[in-house]
Amino acid sequence: MEDSVEVILQHKSCKLSDHTQEKPLVTAASGALLVGVYGLWSLFALPGFRKVPICLKVPYLPSCRTQTQNVMKLLHGRAGCLADLGSGDGRLTDLSKYNNVTVFLAPGVMEVLGRKLEKELPDEARVIACRFPFPDWTPTATEGEGQDQTWAYDMNAIRKLSTQATMR
Ligand SMILES: C[S@@+](CC[C@H](N)C(=O)[O-])C[C@H]1O[C@@H](n2cnc3c(N)ncnc32)[C@H](O)[C@@H]1O
Repeated sequence: MEDSVEVILQHKSCKLSDHTQEKPLVTAASGALLVGVYGLWSLFALPGFRKVPICLKVPYLPSCRTQTQNVMKLLHGRAGCLADLGSGDGRLTDLSKYNNVTVFLAPGVMEVLGRKLEKELPDEARVIACRFPFPDWTPTATEGEGQDQTWAYDMNAIRKLSTQATMR
């Protein structure tokens, strides 16, 4: 009985080693691919996720040149203070003194942020959203396309539209 178990085990291990020897290139290539994917992830994505609490799900990803140029076009000619929400450690201060606000966050936070901005910003404020628009707001203007698209929202127009919507 023991002999037959040994024979079976020997037979199986022969089969296994035969199999890996058959395709050493495929095995090496899959290993290299996995190591490469992990390397790219830890180099580019992981550091961003480490900078914010995981529950916020908004990694650090700096605006590119085209995106920043689109933002500046939509703010052209405007005066007053500018706040870039999400430029620091995520703490928000009193928003009422800012009449220019830019945000490059994630779709998951835009709705709740929109409600906060609508409550706190002055009427003459303009908000610029990068890459992800506010789901409930109608933009006054937009610049660029694809990943670099930016949208401008004027608070007085947003408030007028919400008042009209609640009166209906
Ligand atoms: C996509 S990056 C944009 C960075 C910079 N504003 C820019 O345009 O280059 C998003 C930033 O928002 C910050 N952030 C994430 N959640 C936030 C929150 N709830 N409040 C404020 N900032 C937040 C992150 O720390 C991250 O630095």
